[in-house]
Amino acid sequence: MKKILIVCLGNICRSPTAEAVLKAKAIERGINIEIDSAGTISNHRGKSPDKRSQAAGERRGYSFEGIVSRPVNTNDFEYFDYILAADQQNKSDLLVQCPPQYAHKIALFLEFSGVEESEIPDPYYGGEQGFELVLNLLEKASDQLLDKIG
Ligand code: 4NP
Repeated sequence: MKKILIVCLGNICRSPTAEAVLKAKAIERGINIEIDSAGTISNHRGKSPDKRSQAAGERRGYSFEGIVSRPVNTNDFEYFDYILAADQQNKSDLLVQCPPQYAHKIALFLEFSGVEESEIPDPYYGGEQGFELVLNLLEKASDQLLDKIG
C-alpha cells in the first residue's frame, strides 16, 4: 500500500484539507492508500483544522474528523513513499530536514499531480475565496494524483 504525506506550514489549513479531499476521493475509487498530513512548524500542534477550512470543506461534503495538527518528524521521511509540499517554501524547509537518501520523495503536491499550477496559496491571512481556491486546486490535483498512482 502506497503511503502519502502532505505538508504545509501550520497543518491547519492546506494540508488537512488535502488529506480530507484525497481520502474521500481514494475511498470513492476504492483505492487503498495511507494518507496523512503534517506541518513544517509545530505552533499549532494538537489543534483541529482551521474553522474556515473546515467550513469550506464541509460545504463540499468532506470530513475532517480525527485530523489533528502535528509537525513533520524524522521518521516521516523513511516511512512515507511520497512527501508532497503545498508550496516552494514548504518544500525547501522539508529538504533541509530530510536525510539525503530520502530527498527524492519530496515534491510539490500540484507538480507531482500534473496540474498546471505549482503552488497552493496560503489562505490563512486572506478571505473566504482563498479557502475556495485551495479546494478547487486540491480537487483537481487529487483526481490526477489518483489517476497516476492509483
Ligand atoms: P497552512 O496555513 O500552512 O495552510 O496550515 C497556515 C497556518 C498557520 C500559519 C500560517 C499559515 N501561521 O502563521 O501560524
